Amino acid sequence: MDNLLDLIKRRRTIRQFRQEEIPENILLELVNLGRLAPSAANMQPLEFLVVHEPEVRKRVFPWLRWAAYINPAGNPQPGQEPTAYILILVNTKIRQNGYEYDVGAAAENIILGALTQGIGCCWLISVDRERLKNILGIPDGYKIDSVLALGYPAESPVVEDFQDSVKYWKDETGVLHVPKRRLSQVVHLNRFGNRISG
Ligand SMILES: Cc1cc2nc3c(=O)[nH]c(=O)nc-3n(C[C@H](O)[C@H](O)[C@H](O)COP(=O)(O)O)c2cc1C
Repeated sequence: MDNLLDLIKRRRTIRQFRQEEIPENILLELVNLGRLAPSAANMQPLEFLVVHEPEVRKRVFPWLRWAAYINPAGNPQPGQEPTAYILILVNTKIRQNGYEYDVGAAAENIILGALTQGIGCCWLISVDRERLKNILGIPDGYKIDSVLALGYPAESPVVEDFQDSVKYWKDETGVLHVPKRRLSQVVHLNRFGNRISG
């Protein structure tokens, strides 16, 4: 298995997917990783809706918004759509607010677990929640927090040192470049303002 540190460094958001089905048992194992994530006060307000049937996928796809900085260049083209989704739902009878930390922990478990299986992911919050609730029969009392769009990658984005903008871009060959602030820009050593070089 890949080393966890390498996986974390290698992970990039994927928005173009090969049209190869993800086995259901793998999707359920990914939910299992989400289930086991840290949870504030161990309240566990999250549930997970797994979508892999092609007809349902087709109905979900139009209500997702991709890569706003480069719209529409970041949209999955026909034949590059996600092959599965995991919707992260909040049971609002358990928690009405403060669940976002739990979502973050569960989502990252799922995303990194997927990567160990060669599966890429785009975590989406720009989604039409009302439409998705109707399509998927999600009742009142549940909120859609995020949609994890999954599939075997058909692109290989690369990370870049931050220059003057957080905006990712596509080059002339279609490769996505994702700027990240450097370690020296985000770390303070022992006291605020004490920077490391680099
Ligand atoms: C909470 C959250 C919400 C996001 N929502 C969207 C989204 O709605 N659509 C999208 O295309 N990407 C979305 N992303 C992906 C980010 O654009 C992406 O993480 C960022 O550009 C950095 O790229 P990287 O994931 O490869 O490091 C989201 C990421 C996070 C953490």
